[in-house]
Amino acid sequence: MQSAASHDLAQRISYHGKPQLISVDQFDRGSVDELLQLATRMEPIAQRRQVTRVLEGAVLGNLFFEASTRTRVSFGAAFCRLGGAVCDTTGFTFSSMAKGESIYDTSRVMSGYVDALVIRHPEKGSVAEFAQATNIPVINGGDGPGEHPSQALLDLYTIQKEFSRLCKPLDGADIAIVGDLKYGRTVHSLVKLLSLYRKLHFRLIAPGSLELPLELVELLREREHEVTLWQSPAEALQQADVIYTTRIQKERFVDEKMEAYPQEFQINAALVNSVCKKDCIIMHPLPRDARAGANDLATDLNHDPRLAIFRQTDNGIPVRMAIFAVLLGVEQLVFRDLKPASWRGPERVGPDDAAFYGIS
Ligand code: CP
Repeated sequence: MQSAASHDLAQRISYHGKPQLISVDQFDRGSVDELLQLATRMEPIAQRRQVTRVLEGAVLGNLFFEASTRTRVSFGAAFCRLGGAVCDTTGFTFSSMAKGESIYDTSRVMSGYVDALVIRHPEKGSVAEFAQATNIPVINGGDGPGEHPSQALLDLYTIQKEFSRLCKPLDGADIAIVGDLKYGRTVHSLVKLLSLYRKLHFRLIAPGSLELPLELVELLREREHEVTLWQSPAEALQQADVIYTTRIQKERFVDEKMEAYPQEFQINAALVNSVCKKDCIIMHPLPRDARAGANDLATDLNHDPRLAIFRQTDNGIPVRMAIFAVLLGVEQLVFRDLKPASWRGPERVGPDDAAFYGIS
C-alpha cells in the first residue's frame, strides 16, 4: 500500500489528470522539493550500492526521434535500476512513422506493449500529443525547442546539492545562463523551475539573435526576480554562483546565421580563473561541442572542481528514478526490499572525479 502523501504528489503533478510529465509547469515549489527529496533517497541505488526489483515485470518504451546519449540511456538505466526492462526505438528511419504513421496511432499501439513511455521528438508540443493518445505514463524527453523537464529537474537537483555542500541558500542566488537561450529547451525549463524560488538574479548572456524568449523574461520579472541582459560573459560572470552554459542549437535555427559562438563566449580556464568566484559552480546540460572553433565550454576546466558537469550527468539517474517511482506509484515500495549490490565497481567512476572529492 502506498501512503496518501505519495499518491498526493502524483496527483499534484498530474498532466490533465494522468501520471505524465510534459512540462515543468506541472510543479510548484512544494512538489518539486518533494520529488527531489525522493531522488536523494534513490542515491544508494543509483550509486550501485543497493538493488531493488520494485519494477520487476514492467517495460519502458524509449522512443527517441532525435539524437540523444544522456536522456535515452539514463532513463533506460534508471528504469532498469528499479528492476524494469527497456525497449528502444531511435530515429524516424527505424520507426513506422517513416511510413506515415500518426502520433496518435504510434502512441496507442505502444501503450499496448509497454508500461511507460519516454519520448523525444523534434517538434514543440508533439510529446503532449503522444500523451493525449494514451493513459500510461508519458515523459517528455525533449520536444524540439519546447521543454526538457527531466533535465531541468536534474539541473535543479545538482544546484541544490552543490549549494548544500557550499552552505549557500538557493533563494537570493546569482544565476548566469550563457549561450543559445532562444532555442535551448533545457534553459526554458530550468528558468521556469528556478522562478519558483525567491529573489534570484538571472544574468542572461546571449549573442544578439539568440536571446531568451520575451515571455520567459517577463515571467521572471513578474515573479520578482532581477533580470539583467548581457552580450558578453566576462563582466557578467563576476558575481555568479551558478554559471549554466549551453551548446548552440544550430539544428533549430530558422533565420539565424551564426555557425559558432564568438570566441569571447567560450567559458574556459583563463576566463574562469580571472573573473569567477572561487565557490561558483559551472554547469552544462551536455553534449558540449568539442569541435575546433565551436567555442563551447572548454575542456581545460576538466580538473577544476568547480566544473560540475559530470556530477550533473550522474544526478540524472536518481532524479529519473524518482520520476518513474512517482508516476508508477512505487515510491514507498522501493525502500522495502533493498539488497546490497553483489558486484564490485571502482571507487570513482571518472578519472578526474578525485579532484572534486579531494576538496570536500
Ligand atoms: N542533455 C541532454 O538532453 O543530452 P542528450 O541530448 O544526450 O540526451
